[in-house]
Amino acid sequence: MSSQRLDRIRLSGDVPRHVAVIMDGNGRWARQRSLPRQLGHREGMESVRETIEGAIEVGMDVLTLFAFSTENWNRPQREVSALMSLLQRYARKEPDELKRQGVEVHVLGDLDRIDNRTRRAVETIVEGTAGGSELRLNLMISYGGREEIIRSARILTERVARGELLPEEIDDEVLSSTLFTAGLPDPDLLIRTSGEYRLSNFMLWQLAYTELHISPVLWPDFDRESLFEAVLDYQRRERRFGRVEAT
Ligand code: IPE
Ligand code: IPE
Ligand code: MG
Repeated sequence: MSSQRLDRIRLSGDVPRHVAVIMDGNGRWARQRSLPRQLGHREGMESVRETIEGAIEVGMDVLTLFAFSTENWNRPQREVSALMSLLQRYARKEPDELKRQGVEVHVLGDLDRIDNRTRRAVETIVEGTAGGSELRLNLMISYGGREEIIRSARILTERVARGELLPEEIDDEVLSSTLFTAGLPDPDLLIRTSGEYRLSNFMLWQLAYTELHISPVLWPDFDRESLFEAVLDYQRRERRFGRVEAT
């Protein structure tokens, strides 16, 4: 399918290597239609498919989707179960298509907190897509940015305690290598849907110099064109990293 936006992205050539997305607004989408929140989440799955396709078309290397936060455990049990069931369904249904597309799925977060059925389903999708080289897809589940940094602090202090590491050897690179995203470039672009201007505990370390794009679109309405619009917005930015333009 041709898209003028996609053509413009390709002409510019400056494609973000890593895009992260806070997929927000499913509940509001459902409420606008007097539907239960769960139906908003279900509809959001189609947007996940669209976004993956769009990411491949754009040619990015890594796509990271925030699917369930550590704070989301505090939602009503009914909603948490519905989200876990959806995740299971996705993990059982999608591996063949993802494999065909060359998508390698990684599931990152505190997986000890998820139930056995969901964990097994998640393992299926990870194993079923291993080796895909077109796009790396990170599904962030039971993920919290602070928890991730605390986990790193524990890993590093244990290494120090064992005498394998000196405190002064801990730098940006060493700490990054203990995060869930070890070995990946930091996101160039963060998209948050539904017009909310906050990070909600997402990738606090990795987003230090990421460009932010807040889209007013509710996640179930987000499609390839919305993704392309975000990438075009990114291409108009001047990334400075604290420096000034050379004159
Ligand atoms: C995002 O949609 C999905 C998850 C956080 C799991 P929400 O469920 O947060 O939808 P709103 O923000 O209530 O509209
Ligand atoms: C952030 O959305 C988490 C995910 C998209 C998975 P929330 O809807 O949970 O965040 P808040 O509560 O509005 O900050
Ligand atoms: Mg929300």
